[in-house]
Parts: sequence; structure tokens; C-alpha cells
Amino acid sequence: MTPESERNVFLQGNFAPWPMAGDAPHLTVEGALPRELNGTYYRNGPNPAYEPMGRYHWFDGDGMIHAIRLRDGRASYRNRWVESAGLAEERAAGRATFPGLLDLKPTEVPRIKNTGNTNIVWHGGKLLALMEAALPTALAPCTLETLGEWDFDGRLGTAMTAHPKMDPETGEMLFFGYSPFPPYLTYHVADRTGALVRSEPIDVAWPSMIHDFAVTKDRVIFILCPLVFSFENVTERGGVFSWEPERGTRLGVMARAGGSADVRWYETDASYVFHPLNAYDDGDRVVVDVARYGRLDFMTPQATRDPVRGPESLARLHRWTIDLAGGGVRSTPLDDVSCEFPRADERRLGRKHRYGYVAAEPEPASDVPGWSAIRRYDLERGTFQTRSFGRGSGAGEPLFVPRTAGSAEDDGWVIALVYDAQRNASDFYVLDARDVAGEPVAVVRLPHRVPYGFHGNWVPA
Ligand SMILES: [Fe+2]
Repeated sequence: MTPESERNVFLQGNFAPWPMAGDAPHLTVEGALPRELNGTYYRNGPNPAYEPMGRYHWFDGDGMIHAIRLRDGRASYRNRWVESAGLAEERAAGRATFPGLLDLKPTEVPRIKNTGNTNIVWHGGKLLALMEAALPTALAPCTLETLGEWDFDGRLGTAMTAHPKMDPETGEMLFFGYSPFPPYLTYHVADRTGALVRSEPIDVAWPSMIHDFAVTKDRVIFILCPLVFSFENVTERGGVFSWEPERGTRLGVMARAGGSADVRWYETDASYVFHPLNAYDDGDRVVVDVARYGRLDFMTPQATRDPVRGPESLARLHRWTIDLAGGGVRSTPLDDVSCEFPRADERRLGRKHRYGYVAAEPEPASDVPGWSAIRRYDLERGTFQTRSFGRGSGAGEPLFVPRTAGSAEDDGWVIALVYDAQRNASDFYVLDARDVAGEPVAVVRLPHRVPYGFHGNWVPA
């Protein structure tokens, strides 16, 4: 039988796992790293330690953390696996022992490995690697040593999304957990010290894979897409995920202090959203900017290089304006270029934002995910700037870091990992947030490639 890594593009090229954990204390820097950038950029992504035992989905790999530490204009690098209990079991066996997402069977208790592979956040004095089907995994901030699963002192009774929201004023961490089994959705709040203070089950019309949500200063918005966990006809469909566009997409708006009874649902066209850019209250409207797919073929992952299957299978920046009084949702495309990993200034989280940053692909050649550019939007003026890295290169999630705590919304830098196909290695870019297309402020040459992955965050020293 052909090994999965020989037939699955998500195990090839710069999707292929990096096989080593190591340290590079002194990196080459071109340009000059700003002295204000004192801290660590942590980036998480899937990096399977073993050849998969069955079908592989990009979301399956063991988490690997890549940490780029900047200090006094110098840069160092460290990478480590998230050493989960599941990975320990596999290390003992010397082979993969967990099925991937696509091979989950509804007839048995699912054996899900808590890979911790999706995001990495700092809150309440803890560095947490996150994956949405399980508890967070605590890591040592400096050594990246895995400390173990964190259940908020026994208070967290559900999985935790990989996309918690840190309120810039209260310091609270708002998040949720979802499950294919009741309760399908639970909303949680941790206070600024990291103590879990609220858990509210939320009624939803169907169980769905809910990757992310949005918050405003006063509200939370749950995004219920028609990607349904369905335990009927699983063999026919090839897995437990079912795309059922006739259901439409529903946006559940709830006061942040509310509960399930306070959620009001608003309908919009069937679509899938992994990631909002940001959301804010605007009188009796709520504005939610998202990277929106017209459909999501979750069960037909790109095992071979398919031609582009049409515009609906790519995400684009999009605005939902929810009319709380009238009950409708105005749906407005903001761009026609393929994008993912939208980010705004975290200090504007839940507040009106003017700028946004995405990984973009102006000329998609296949529907294998890939973004060869970083695009900056000025949503007030309706303009954008694009920095292209060239074909074969790939930009990761662009992250805005302010110059100082009080500097203006776009006064700072955009940092991102970019794979350079020529060098077969990755670079860490520091761009002027006001001029992302201009000369980079600095480029840190990493000693090897960093596989394409998911999300990262900056933790000041
Ligand atoms: Fe995500």
C-alpha cells in the first residue's frame, strides 16, 4: 500500500513535517530589528511525528511550536513538539496509533489525540497550546517543555476552542467548547488571572464544527455553519462531516453577560467561516468581518493536486452587518482575492477596527491551501496594499504588533513566517505595518523551513 505521505500533498513540500526539535541561538538578521520588539513570537502548526496510520488531514498532525525570540536587535529560534499523552503513546509504540479526523468512526468511542496543534496563547500567566477537540496544553514559555493538559483547576468540563478572545480592557479570556455530542456548545469566561468564572451551555440547532467566534465590547457572536456532525450514512460519505447548505448559516448574538435564553439567531447564506477578522457594535447593528468560504468540502480533502474547484471553495474577506432591530444580515464582499488567517490589532478586539491583515493568494493555481502574499486592508478608505513573495513561496498568518502599548492602530509592525522555496527554508519578516509592500524593516533567516501551519501570537518580554 502506498504510504499516505507519498499521496497526500499535506505531507509534502513545505507541508511535510520537520523531523527535528532544536535550538539556533544566533540567527542572521538582514536589516535592523526594532529595539521595541522585545519578546517572543510563538507559532503553532501540525507536524506529525509518525507516518499516519490511515488518511491524513492537515488538522491531524502533532503540534509543533516554533519560537522566535527577539532581544536587543538579535534573534534566536527554538522548536519543540507538543509532547501530548497521545504522542507519548506513539513514541512508545514507535508508530502512529491514533486515527485522523477523516477516519473517526461514530460506532466507537472516538480516540482523539490532543495534538495541541492549532494556536498558542498567553493568558493568566500560562502559555497554552490549543486544539479545539480537547483541553489546552500548558507549556514552559522559555524551554517550550510540555507541562501537561490544563483544565482550569478542574473547572473546565468541555473542550476549548483554539480561538479564545482576550478582552483588551478587562483582560478576560472569552472562549467556548463544542462537541458532536450534547451539550453541542458551551460558552466560557476566564477572568484576567486565568480563573474560569463562567460556563454556559448554549442551545444550537445542530452540532457543527465551530472553529472560531467573534466578540464585541458587549456581545458574543456564535457562528453556526452547515458543516454538520452526522452519524448517518457515514460510510457513504466517507466520514462524520456533512455539508448541508440548505440549513444556511446562523449567527447567534448574545450579551456577554447572558446565557442560552438570550441568544438571538440571525440567518445568512450558507457559508463556512474558520476565522473572523474582528467584530464591533455599531448602534443597533453588529459588524462582523470574516474570511468566508461559499462552501466547505471537508470530506474531500486535497489528497491529490486538484484544479481549482471554483470561487466558492476559497475564502474571501467579507462583512456581515447584523441588524439587531430588523433581524436581517447584510452580506457584503470586501474583496475578491483568496485569503485566510485574518488578523487585526488585538487592542481593537471587539472595537471598531480600521485595518486588517491577511495571508492572500492573488492567483490561486490549485485549491491546495497556499498564500503567496500578505495584504493589508484600510477598511475605512476601502484600499489595500499587497506584498507578494513570489510563486512557490508561502506566507503564514500576518500578526500586527504595536510599537508601544499606546501607539496608533497601524503604528507598529506586521510579523510573519514566510517559506522561501528557493532557499527551501523559512524567513521571519518584520514589515512596517503602514507600508507592508515596502522595504522590510528586518528579515530573520531561519536555519531551516517551518512547515505551513496555523496560528501564532506575540508575547512581549
Ligand atoms: Fe484557526
